[in-house]
Amino acid sequence: MLIRILKGTGIALLSLGVLIAGVYGYMYHQVQSRMNEKYVVQAPVLNIRYDSAQLAYGERLAIVKGCRDCHGDDMGGKVFVDDPGLGLLIGKNLTKGKGGLPKDYSTEDWVLALKHGIRRDGKTLLFMPSYEFTHLSEEDMSAIIAYAQSLKPVDRELPDHNLKPLSYILASLDKLPLIVAEKIEHSTELIKQVKSEVSVDFGKYLSNSCTGCHRPNMKGGDPIAPGFPVVPDVTTSGNVGKWTEDQFVTVLRTGKTPEGKEIDPKNMPWPMTAAYTDTELKALYAYLKSI
Ligand code: HEC
Ligand code: HEC
Repeated sequence: MLIRILKGTGIALLSLGVLIAGVYGYMYHQVQSRMNEKYVVQAPVLNIRYDSAQLAYGERLAIVKGCRDCHGDDMGGKVFVDDPGLGLLIGKNLTKGKGGLPKDYSTEDWVLALKHGIRRDGKTLLFMPSYEFTHLSEEDMSAIIAYAQSLKPVDRELPDHNLKPLSYILASLDKLPLIVAEKIEHSTELIKQVKSEVSVDFGKYLSNSCTGCHRPNMKGGDPIAPGFPVVPDVTTSGNVGKWTEDQFVTVLRTGKTPEGKEIDPKNMPWPMTAAYTDTELKALYAYLKSI
């Protein structure tokens, strides 16, 4: 009897093992083929100016759009995910130093990466939030590129990405924004420029830096990756609906909420929003209060 039960359990476990391996194998190959798909798009031609006002503006944007959070304060690259489940994800060295971008990395390649989320070989970039940057105005995108192309070379050779099973599983279930090019409407044209003023429209434009986590409707949802907290609703139906403009500005500058919570900058990038101007924060508030 006991032997029969043990045998039965053994067979059940073995079948389960085979089933899991089969499902994982399917997910792995499905994600691999999405990663290897080649995209053919025509990146718009941008006129880049390199005067000092433009470079200073571009540097500020590199901070407030979060480039430095993933590519390092000197933009020389850094490991920004190193997790036993997810694996290793590298924010590339974006300078022309050793380990950086190729010497002939052109303005077109920059636009391809930022607007389309595509590498110069036509394949998707991984985990780079181009689905946010695709909404940048032509003026802002040009300034970021001018600044990035003028960076001091940083010699820093980083390892390649090394994705572990959890990354494939989550990407397959669309629970991890890994395959960037799929998340972009490639035929959309860049808007020329956006007026910086306290308005719902300008707030909506700025909110493109938040939608990757708070979702396009800003109502939050599941954690963005395992180990991160649930992303809160930041519209009138969430806490923001109860906060005054001053309180909202304080949260995005200090990470401390009126409810007494201290937000960990690893979960919600408030050091990025701390660098926003009053106009930008008030415009965001106006937009969120309108939803
Ligand atoms: C959430 C993290 C994150 C943020 C924020 C981010 N990047 Fe990236 N970026 C990445 C990762 C990861 C890669 C590598 C993608 C790959 O190799 O597939 C990358 C790749 C790139 C590349 C392509 C390099 C190549 O090999 O072709 C460029 C250009 C780039 N980023 C520019 C920027 C700029 C400019 C900003 C700010 C406007 C920015 N990134 C913000 C994570 C990020
Ligand atoms: C990388 C993901 C990410 C991005 C980008 C991001 N947030 Fe958040 N945000 C979070 C998470 C996660 C929390 C919850 C933090 C916690 O629970 O500790 C949060 C919390 C908040 C809160 C506090 C809400 C509350 O009820 O306490 C506000 C307000 C907020 N975010 C606004 C913004 C705005 C505005 C932007 C864009 C300018 C933005 N966030 C960009 C992930 C993000």
